[in-house]
Amino acid sequence: MPVLTVCNHKGGTGKTTSSIHLAAAFGHAGGRVLVIDFDPQGFLTRMLGASEPPPEHSALGLLDASADLASFPVQTVSGFDLIGSSMALTKALRRMTRPTDVLWLRETLQTAHDYDIVLIDTAAALSPFTMNALVASDLVVIPVTPEYQPVVGAEQTWQTCGLVQDKLNPRLSVPRFLLTQVDGRLNRHAKYAEYLRGKYGEAVLETPIRTSSSLAAASRDGRTVFDAGVTTRGAVDYRNAAKEIARHLYAAATAPPADSAAESAPAAPPEAQDVPAPPPPTAQAAPTAPASGSPAPPAERGGDGALNGHRVSGGLPAAPAAPDGGEAPRGGAERPGGVASGSDATP
Ligand SMILES: Nc1ncnc2c1ncn2[C@@H]1O[C@H](COP(=O)(O)OP(=O)(O)OP(=O)(O)O)[C@@H](O)[C@H]1O
Ligand SMILES: [Mg+2]
Repeated sequence: MPVLTVCNHKGGTGKTTSSIHLAAAFGHAGGRVLVIDFDPQGFLTRMLGASEPPPEHSALGLLDASADLASFPVQTVSGFDLIGSSMALTKALRRMTRPTDVLWLRETLQTAHDYDIVLIDTAAALSPFTMNALVASDLVVIPVTPEYQPVVGAEQTWQTCGLVQDKLNPRLSVPRFLLTQVDGRLNRHAKYAEYLRGKYGEAVLETPIRTSSSLAAASRDGRTVFDAGVTTRGAVDYRNAAKEIARHLYAAATAPPADSAAESAPAAPPEAQDVPAPPPPTAQAAPTAPASGSPAPPAERGGDGALNGHRVSGGLPAAPAAPDGGEAPRGGAERPGGVASGSDATP
């Protein structure tokens, strides 16, 4: 069951719109899809017209030691299941100070269930919730509007993914940039898109999400564009992006172990696969450094050399110190969510 996180450290780049519409595209194609709103501001929950769940049934509850995905209460919206956000996430943040606090979501998502794919929407901030999502993921999609600040945020997110892959989650495959809110009339959009494609190559999805009045309206009226039909620009773009993502998930799931990857190519994906239902990825390639000699970012404040490296220099949680070098035992530590134990849920 692949886990896909939608993340960009810059705000307003289309993360929530992409989470909703990729989920709707997978659901429309017949997949069983779960969306988790891990943004404490809960815009995705509100955009879908869903009610705010009680803390223990919100995304925060997934961090509890006793959380079990198969029995976790969900709301059903627009063809997929939703675990919504709650104000309690913000309150819980100040308790999430230990390195192990980034591990709990992964544990819960590894409990038995029958979803074909899980999508996680994140806030622009690199919070412990976002880290939980990255640690639990097989793939990160980075929505990026081809403008200066979103591109900077996207490249920083790429670097974060490299660090997480190296230190915390070796399953994480190469992140994929998804161009969003693309206006074909704007030269600067073309310029930034060209910059990303030149530097990151195949890590940039071929399908751009164009500006679309129906996508903008969908965020206001609690519907997805798929509810109004599959032929609108927004529905066509997100369906094509979902197909590409499904192919990448399939390729990652069937990739040979890293040490033999150079000798045998992965099996070809099925033709025009709509629904991502690959087995969980086992061995995947790490995020790779951008191609050397690639062009500098189109300069608005000068080329930022710090963005050209793969690693971030610090400020992120260190690898957790578990006794056996693996994960901390499930339920063995007081959880930041703690909603089920009632220990300190609403300070
Ligand atoms: N392709 C599109 N065409 C038109 N409007 C869009 C498109 N994608 C997103 N928008 C609009 O842009 C705004 C920001 O989108 P969205 O909320 O998805 O971004 P976000 O990255 O989740 O923001 P935040 O960082 O605040 O969570 C919303 O009003 C949304 O309706
Ligand atoms: Mg959002």
